[in-house]
Formats: sequence, C-alpha cells, structure tokens
Amino acid sequence: MEQQFTLEETLATDLSQVMPLVERIAQKVLALTASAEETFQVKLALEEALTNAMRHGNLLIAKQVVTVKVKASRERIILDIHDQGKGFDFSNLRDPTQGENTERISGRGVFLMRKLMDDIEFYDAGSGVKMVKTFRLKPGA
Ligand SMILES: Nc1ncnc2c1ncn2[C@@H]1O[C@H](COP(=O)(O)OP(=O)(O)OP(=O)(O)O)[C@@H](O)[C@H]1O
Ligand SMILES: [Mg+2]
Repeated sequence: MEQQFTLEETLATDLSQVMPLVERIAQKVLALTASAEETFQVKLALEEALTNAMRHGNLLIAKQVVTVKVKASRERIILDIHDQGKGFDFSNLRDPTQGENTERISGRGVFLMRKLMDDIEFYDAGSGVKMVKTFRLKPGA
C-alpha cells in the first residue's frame, strides 16, 4: 500500500478545474487512510479553499494562477493553496451559525475549512492558506 504522496499543481483560474483536482487528491487520500469520512472532510475543505482562491482571490481572471501543494502521509495531510489576489481580513469573518447570518446562502467556506481541518493558517495577508489534518489511525491499520 502507498504510504505517502506529494503533489504540486499550478491551476489556471477556471472553476471547472476544481473538482477534477479535488477528486484526484481524494482518491490518493482514500488509498492512504481507508477512511471515507476523513477523505470527504479533506475534499470539502480543499474544494472551498480552491473556490475561494479562484473566485475571491483571483477574481475569476483566467490568467491568474492558483498553486496547490499537498503533502500527505498515513498520519496527516498538509494542503497549501495560494492565489494571486490581495488577500482579505480573515480574522474578521461573519460566523455563519449566528443570528441573521444563518439565513445567508454564502459565507460558510472558511467556517467549514476550520471545522474540518485540525489547523488552518492564512498567510500573505490571506492570499495563501495552509491547512493540516491529522488522520485518526484505525486500530490494526
Ligand atoms: N483567497 C481569498 N482571497 C480574498 N478573499 C477571500 C479569500 N477567501 C475568502 N475570502 C473572503 O472571505 C469571505 C468568506 O469566505 P467564505 O468561503 O467563508 O464564504 P463565501 O466564499 O463568501 O461563500 P461560500 O464559500 O459559503 O460559498 C469571502 O466572501 C471573501 O470576501
Ligand atoms: Mg467560499
């Protein structure tokens, strides 16, 4: 069984490229962890981060790129996503679980990323995000 993998990709800004990359990474994560639940959590966090990078960071300008670096072992995965935008005030986001925010249809991506990963850190003013998830190793695995 494969014990680890690394991947570095540079994507043009094109939302149709998000899911194929997410699926490709998810297959590798599933092979490492044998956990459908943890694979799903990684998929969702990665999809939200890539979508934000393209939409809010690169403002859907096709020639701007998103770089994706993944380093995974059976113990943990580290995902690093960087766009070419200006960043944002990531310390001051609306809480989608509070008050009238619960009625809004958007504003859940970063919240989900924080919930699904063990550690997330924005850098370069928010144009980069590094997320870490530690896998729960099954007994005997
Ligand atoms: N990479 C980024 N560059 C610039 N701004 C960003 C970036 N990521 C997030 N943001 C800002 O943070 C806000 C919150 O992001 P979040 O993903 O939580 O919600 P959303 O993208 O607006 O909606 P949803 O993800 O629920 O469809 C965004 O509306 C945007 O203003
Ligand atoms: Mg979003």
